[in-house]
Amino acid sequence: MIQKTIVEYNNELSRIYDEVTSPDGSWTAPSECFRLIRPHLNGDMTVLDLGIGTGLVSTKIAEYGCKLIGIDAAPEMLSQARRKLPSALLLCANIEEPWPLSKHTHIDMIVAVGVLEFVPSLAKVFITSGKHLKLGGLICFTYEELLPNSPLQRLRRSPRGALLYKKVPRRLSFPVFRQTFVEVKQELELAHFTILHHHKFVAYHLRRSSDNCVFDVTYRIVLAQRVGPSNDREV
Ligand SMILES: C[S@@+](CC[C@H](N)C(=O)[O-])C[C@H]1O[C@@H](n2cnc3c(N)ncnc32)[C@H](O)[C@@H]1O
Repeated sequence: MIQKTIVEYNNELSRIYDEVTSPDGSWTAPSECFRLIRPHLNGDMTVLDLGIGTGLVSTKIAEYGCKLIGIDAAPEMLSQARRKLPSALLLCANIEEPWPLSKHTHIDMIVAVGVLEFVPSLAKVFITSGKHLKLGGLICFTYEELLPNSPLQRLRRSPRGALLYKKVPRRLSFPVFRQTFVEVKQELELAHFTILHHHKFVAYHLRRSSDNCVFDVTYRIVLAQRVGPSNDREV
């Protein structure tokens, strides 16, 4: 079950999300993803955006004429996305649970930007992706890298702390989950995906409130292809 705080926080964040993530550069993950998937896009495709938020990635994909489906747990994020993407199918759901899509919906590509860090088990998301993505289809996702020597990213599960944006009323946050590349690659392979490309990047900068130090927050982006039958493994 998704934590109530994640939904409440993102509902409130939705009002200012585009303002606090722009200008382009303060939250680099959507453009990093778009750069990677652009050569693979065409207007015949159906693209599913997991954790679509206000639609920062999907609005760029929509320019190619792709059919869009978005899933997000926060209804207010979906309302913002709906204003920009009136013809997209937008569904309110937790991506860790079975997705509210018919098994006859053929997805050509899945994107998941800035959402998997809130999910404790990537295995579940990869297995569900394998069930909905057509054979040969692509998944492009970001995750927060576990960096044992980093003062900020050395813990697999971050402690709860004050939330990032001051304009959203302060409350205790939810944890962020981090992975190593080896772990992610293993889970992808178990779900019958093969990695086509991956690289690290700085997704944003974080000012630590205790001492005002500014840190790079490092993510990795992965482009992978479904190469085998969907996997019914229990996780
Ligand atoms: C940081 S925003 C990223 C939004 C967008 N993908 C982007 O890159 O700008 C994370 C989004 O994921 C959603 N989210 C977090 N956990 C989720 C979950 N378990 N299931 C569905 N959506 C989730 C939040 O509501 C929020 O809209």
